[in-house]
Amino acid sequence: MTAPDIAVERLGADYFADPYSVHARLRAQRPVTPVVMPGGPGAWLITGYAEARAALADPRLSKHMPDWHPEPGSIFAALDLHLLNSDPPDHARLRKLVTKAFTARRVERLRPRITAITAGLLEDMPGRAEVDLLASFAFPLPITVICELLGVPSGDRDDFRAWSATIVANTVAPEVFQAHATAMIRYFMALLADKRHEPGDDLLSALIAARDDEDRLSEDELVSMAFLLLVAGHETTVNLIASGVLALLLNPAELARLRAEPALIGSAVEELLRYVNPVNHATFRCAAEPVEIGGVHISRGDPVLVALSGANRDPARFGDPDQLDLGRDSSGHLAFGHGIHYCLGAPLARLEAGIAVSGLLARFGSISLAVPAASLRWRPSTLIHGLEALPVRLAP
Ligand code: HEM
Repeated sequence: MTAPDIAVERLGADYFADPYSVHARLRAQRPVTPVVMPGGPGAWLITGYAEARAALADPRLSKHMPDWHPEPGSIFAALDLHLLNSDPPDHARLRKLVTKAFTARRVERLRPRITAITAGLLEDMPGRAEVDLLASFAFPLPITVICELLGVPSGDRDDFRAWSATIVANTVAPEVFQAHATAMIRYFMALLADKRHEPGDDLLSALIAARDDEDRLSEDELVSMAFLLLVAGHETTVNLIASGVLALLLNPAELARLRAEPALIGSAVEELLRYVNPVNHATFRCAAEPVEIGGVHISRGDPVLVALSGANRDPARFGDPDQLDLGRDSSGHLAFGHGIHYCLGAPLARLEAGIAVSGLLARFGSISLAVPAASLRWRPSTLIHGLEALPVRLAP
């Protein structure tokens, strides 16, 4: 990556906790800046809303990263062949196989089950005690839902939490990454073999059937799909719920507003998506040919990252963007991305977060942070913006 006339910004570990002030500073200079991520590679970082939206819809920005794909035949190929890593026409072929399972209407049928899981988790949380809301509520809800949908035994979820946290982190020793990625691949291979033998009424069994009948998914594509759905299905929603509750606790007037007017929940979830940004930047893209974005020349082969959380706080698009306002029109936010890779699970994430936040507020009349906000720790990932833990005190 070369930027002869623009200084490269080296982002430090403070970027994990607060990407917003970094984006605001960079955006004020220019909406597209060359950066080096903490512990990670360099890329062009897009922080302006208009430029971000245009980049996400630009077919010249490809998901094919020539230097970054594992050798064919290597075990890691089984994590690499999913729709979020694919360009057309493969992307459409892969996405078509799973689209039906995630339409708003199909997902709405999960409402009773999601409500029951939420009620069970809330029941298990004692009032007046200090609890880590992330570990005891925000994490188990989406992981249980996605495990049930896919047909993954939810007893294995703590393993998934560890493996997937490693895979999305920036600062992990290569041998730890290798060990966790291999464990996850082996796990899925064994699970898929079991399901081929004894199919269940679940999405993975349906995908195996699609593969076996029409030869549309290779074995590696099948493992990749399972991996993507499981990781994307929980890493993100966990943080919408946990960081969303934190945002409400830090904005007591907005929390009181939502308590007084529970019907605001739909608009509240959209604003929380815009404001807390569970996915900080979209996944890597690569310029398949020279591109100009925001007046900046990007050479062929250069990696590009779209800062969704930068776009969602761009004052040119959202007035007073650092203010949480549950009643504002947040439509057009980019928290779920844009273009052909727009989040497949958006209806599910919205449903889960709405049920979770409403259920929590209805069950506990008082929720407060158990530690000073400044001492909360954020995960060492630039992709996922999420808390390590959310200690709170709850009272009925
Ligand atoms: C609050 C929760 C969620 C957020 C903020 C979120 C965000 C995103 C974003 C930003 C992308 C596009 C990434 C890019 O273009 O590089 C994406 C794609 C995707 N998401 Fe989500 N997601 C959430 C929940 C879910 C859930 C519950 C699922 C369920 C399986 C899911 C499955 C996917 C899949 C499969 C893709 C790839 C789509 C494609 O490449 O065509 N996501 N998500």
